[in-house]
Amino acid sequence: MQVMKILKLVCAVIVLVVASSERGESRKRGRAVTTTSFEYTALSCRAHSASLSDYGGVGDGKTSNTKAFQSAISELSKYASEGGAQLYVPAGKWLTGSFSLISHFTLYLHRDAVLLASQDVNEWPVIKPLPSYGRGRDAAAGRYTSLIFGTNLTDVIVTGDNGTIDGQGAFWWQQFHKSKLKYTRPYLIELMFSDSIQISNLTLLNSPSWNVHPVYSSNIIVRGITIIAPVTSPNTDGINPDSCTNTRIEDCYIVSGDDCVAVKSGWDEYGIKFGWPTKQLVIRRLTCISPYSATIALGSEMSGGIQDVRAEDITAIHTESGVRIKTAVGRGGYVKDIYVKKFTMHTMKWAFWMTGNYGSHADKNYDPNALPEIKNINYRDMVAENVTMAARLEGIANDPFTGICMANVTIGMAAKAKKQPWTCTDIEGMTSSVTPPPCNLLPDQGPEKITACDFPEESLPIDMLEFKKCTYSLKLA
Ligand SMILES: *[C@@H]1O[C@H](CO)[C@@H](O)[C@H](O)[C@H]1NC(C)=O
Ligand SMILES: *[C@@H]1O[C@H](CO)[C@@H](O)[C@H](O)[C@H]1NC(C)=O
Ligand SMILES: *[C@@H]1O[C@H](CO)[C@@H](O)[C@H](O)[C@H]1NC(C)=O
Ligand SMILES: *[C@@H]1O[C@H](CO)[C@@H](O)[C@H](O)[C@H]1NC(C)=O
Ligand SMILES: *[C@@H]1O[C@H](CO)[C@@H](O)[C@H](O)[C@H]1NC(C)=O
Repeated sequence: MQVMKILKLVCAVIVLVVASSERGESRKRGRAVTTTSFEYTALSCRAHSASLSDYGGVGDGKTSNTKAFQSAISELSKYASEGGAQLYVPAGKWLTGSFSLISHFTLYLHRDAVLLASQDVNEWPVIKPLPSYGRGRDAAAGRYTSLIFGTNLTDVIVTGDNGTIDGQGAFWWQQFHKSKLKYTRPYLIELMFSDSIQISNLTLLNSPSWNVHPVYSSNIIVRGITIIAPVTSPNTDGINPDSCTNTRIEDCYIVSGDDCVAVKSGWDEYGIKFGWPTKQLVIRRLTCISPYSATIALGSEMSGGIQDVRAEDITAIHTESGVRIKTAVGRGGYVKDIYVKKFTMHTMKWAFWMTGNYGSHADKNYDPNALPEIKNINYRDMVAENVTMAARLEGIANDPFTGICMANVTIGMAAKAKKQPWTCTDIEGMTSSVTPPPCNLLPDQGPEKITACDFPEESLPIDMLEFKKCTYSLKLA
């Protein structure tokens, strides 16, 4: 008995020691040495480590850390060609304005680290509108730089043990509602013209506007992100891949006031001229709650084109629509080769929604002859319940949306459902085993066509990328 007790005690002590070093801090009494070490997974590991505390950071929730971030990152840039560097943000509340990342760099947030976005507009430098949009979304002039920004980078990682980035968006939402904004609101994380990006294991709260915006970039993994904003907050889109190639979004949970994922590629004549599509995008294991918006929106800014999107294992709860196409005359571009499967929906207004007259133009100079091409849109293995209208599918007159394919879809209608579950105009396609019986423009081809809307067989290159086990280790004398 006695031996067992002692053994248990020894085990408990060992567990305590292991747990505390996993947490990050372990202090050796008698010697003035603090070590912090832990493991995490990333696309690339770094040779050099530093903590924000080493650069004068103060995690009291009141002191601005913008300069601490800037000087830490500028100092660490000397390691870019020597194995790169990682900057650790310890537990604490770190008030900060916008700061910029560098190549071969990892920003890592402790699980109790909170980046608090500053409400002092002087902490947000104004930059030019995106070239593929021609103007800002909130105001024609420039836009506030995002909280975490980067441009023309390669190999950049923002991750953590589910640490938090709090945009304190109420301040910005009020100014937006009162039309007081001189410039477009900032996003939480934006990376432009960059390659090899990982954004993972973080919680993003109350963004001023969009949360995660990779734009003109490639080879992007967004994984394990929790995004939360009030469902009535303006334009708090979750993740917006915009003119990006090879992107993988997985294991994300999003509650927001706008689309959970919005796939984009520029706006009207500006997007057509810029001409960068979003293509080769994988979205899987996404849970979305957004009562006034879509689970996954394609558009409305799609003027550079959207091609080869594959979404699977998606759950929507109390969300307006599923995978929604939004476009308009004047957008040009295309949305094609879209594949969706294993989609579960609870309490929806529309399970399917396509909108050809979205409007919302950058300015009056859009080309009325620039018609979008919408084709080869595939859905299979979908189950929905408590749905008000099964589908509202509105193409464009003389520019029908074609190749719409739906198979193995069961939509349970709400008690107060509309009498006519489907409305279809200017579309063409087929269905197989779809309930309730679809509109005449999507004729039932019989149960033997159930595999007609399948995914392509070969996987995309972004699925070949593998994670490594990285160690952060820092000793302070
Ligand atoms: C994120 O967290 C999950 C669960 O804790 C873990 O399995 C994964 O390796 C972490 N890293 C990335 C890059 O997702
Ligand atoms: C970033 O890359 C883009 C596209 O290659 C280029 O037009 C732009 O000038 C670059 N910007 C900077 C700051 O280097
Ligand atoms: C991360 O934190 C959020 C907010 O507290 C929580 O809802 C979520 O479950 C956490 N994720 C993980 C993987 O622990
Ligand atoms: C139809 O969809 C359901 C729900 O996703 C799935 O369980 C079932 O296997 C599918 N049936 C066929 C024939 O693929
Ligand atoms: C069904 O949807 C309505 C809104 O359309 C909602 O009020 C109700 O709670 C939902 N019922 C269930 C069982 O989820």
